[in-house]
Amino acid sequence: MSPGDFSSAVLDWFDRHGRKDLPWQENMTPYRVWVSEIMLQQTQVATVIPYYQRFMQALPTVEALAEASADEVLHLWTGLGYYSRARNLHKTAKLVVDQHDGEFPRSAAELAELPGIGESTAGAIASLSMGQRAPILDGNVKRVLARFKAVSGWPGERSVQLRLWELAELYTPQARVADYTQAMMDLGATLCTRSKPSCLLCPLQAACQARLQGTPAAYPQARPRKIMPVRACLMPLVVDGQGAVWLERRPDSGLWGGLWCPPQLDADADLDEWLAGNSLAARDVQPLDPLRHTFSHFHLDIHPLLVRVEPGDAVAETGQVWYNLRQPTRLGLAAPVKVLLERAQRHIQPVSDSEVTHVPHGDVSQV
Ligand code: ADE
Repeated sequence: MSPGDFSSAVLDWFDRHGRKDLPWQENMTPYRVWVSEIMLQQTQVATVIPYYQRFMQALPTVEALAEASADEVLHLWTGLGYYSRARNLHKTAKLVVDQHDGEFPRSAAELAELPGIGESTAGAIASLSMGQRAPILDGNVKRVLARFKAVSGWPGERSVQLRLWELAELYTPQARVADYTQAMMDLGATLCTRSKPSCLLCPLQAACQARLQGTPAAYPQARPRKIMPVRACLMPLVVDGQGAVWLERRPDSGLWGGLWCPPQLDADADLDEWLAGNSLAARDVQPLDPLRHTFSHFHLDIHPLLVRVEPGDAVAETGQVWYNLRQPTRLGLAAPVKVLLERAQRHIQPVSDSEVTHVPHGDVSQV
């Protein structure tokens, strides 16, 4: 199949079956496409849609994003995970406003120099929002191309990656490049799926080498398995008399950078010592069920402890907040922290609404 036949087959399929009503396909500006591509990097379309809509409502332009606080951006990202994406998004918005007059660079090469924008994302932004001929190679497209040419090896290996980029470059057409880019993503997401591809519906089936071999799902080869280490920590959920939980802002760099979390202690830390060191007097300490959170390179077993303290016990310092789930303030929370706060709330004696409204401390006070 020639490159021209390949792209024609993909475009014909797109005209009949491609997705055309995703929220980022409306008014395809570089800003809107960029935000969607960053959200979609590690997250499924169905999950992204409500986050994307909230994000665009709150921050409709690159200027609005550049001016937003880090807490606001992380708040809008809460639950999406991989928070370095949100921090890079914020950084890039400031760069685009300060150094490019609010206009995104027009070439994929220049776009790829901005924080958080890799080569494939740069290609997607340039082709989808500016009609530039730029190839992409995200996970979906890797799968389609690896199968079409039966490319063996794990795509994380450099030689495999280079071969797939060559193919991506070869098949990207000169015309209708935005539709072609979207079509390749859609083909990978809807037909050429990881475990059960729908080859009979595929416009490339007649020439697909993996299909001709009878083993489409064997491509691309999976990442070699690695054994992930397990770490453990204690996480005191310190609850005051009004049901507010003590959170601390994590340093900007590192795990959950810039997000708000309960304190995290070593698994063998002495809780009494920690409480005394923070001038907290516990009325009651109750272990809750442990929760495993998996990062890209290790598992973290979190052992939460519900610690009820006397009202007005602790003096919050800068970077600390009493967080009330009934009236949550706009902060970024890591996904497992959100789960833990909800669990903690279920263990806390319900406070009647009239009590809450009459106690000033019932609101979140950031000191
Ligand atoms: N995944 C990455 N980019 C996408 C897009 N524009 N549409 C659907 N899925 C995607």
